[in-house]
Amino acid sequence: MYNETQLQQFVEQAKPYAKYGKVADYIPALRKADPNDLSIAIYAPDGTVVCAGDTQEKATLQSISKIIALAFVLMNRGEEEVFKKVGMEPTGDPFNSIAKLEEKQPPKPLNPMINAGALAVTHMIDGADVDERFHRLLTFVHRLTGDSAITYSKEVAQSEFETAFLNRSLCYFLKQHGIIDEDVEPLMDLYTKQCAIEMNCIDLARIGLVFAMDGFDPIQNDPIMPPHIARICKTFMVTCGMYNASGEFAIKIGIPAKSGVSGGILAAVPGRFGIGIFGPSLDEKGNSITGMKLLELLSKTYSLSIF
Ligand code: DON
Repeated sequence: MYNETQLQQFVEQAKPYAKYGKVADYIPALRKADPNDLSIAIYAPDGTVVCAGDTQEKATLQSISKIIALAFVLMNRGEEEVFKKVGMEPTGDPFNSIAKLEEKQPPKPLNPMINAGALAVTHMIDGADVDERFHRLLTFVHRLTGDSAITYSKEVAQSEFETAFLNRSLCYFLKQHGIIDEDVEPLMDLYTKQCAIEMNCIDLARIGLVFAMDGFDPIQNDPIMPPHIARICKTFMVTCGMYNASGEFAIKIGIPAKSGVSGGILAAVPGRFGIGIFGPSLDEKGNSITGMKLLELLSKTYSLSIF
């Protein structure tokens, strides 16, 4: 099976692809990322971690946080309530598209992985105010990673908060149609903090492991989430985790995964291990170009496709 030397070779093979992409620039603070960075960690149920690249480098979760927030609200509110506000179908559209919202009756977002759906999910995080709601979500992240030092990047959160006009439009649309009923600014405050939660690829791989093990954390012997919730999350990873590249990703790689515009990818190989990758150079759909190459090499070499 995989070892560190092999992983390092894969990283070297994937790195040259960075030149075909670019770092996210619509959130100004993300422009500072180095497109040539690439790190990976694989976390096994026995606690073994195999890594390559600069694994101490931290990055923000961005859209990877959507799968964590989804698991959290499903645990708190239950399936019935959550799926009243957000659907289960892939869109085939870019992550920030507003297009399909107007076509559907009732006008609820098609799934929790696109921005409109994720905003509806974040809206459902309970608490007295933004601070309490964020603290509850962050505590869940601490449990998933076993690392209570994890926090968020104020700089990235602030940078997105100041520039997220499209996400604000999605919120106003959702509010007009009764999907959300709170003020837009506090929701944007909570959402941008959620997206700015920061960690390294080892922490990310550990979260992937929990999903891979059906919600059970084998490291702390902790049944973090019920198996059916982990299963729902993994299904969304397959159908919508890589947005309008999810079909191709399922064919070429076949591992439940969720990407973020920071260049992160969280992947869960069911029953076997979690994978965390950071590689900030993105393709035109907002997925890490080197990260996907790396996963393709791994999947082909070790037959990791679930299909
Ligand atoms: O809402 C946004 O646009 C970002 N905070 C997250 C988007 C994202 O990561 C899309 N992923 N590939």
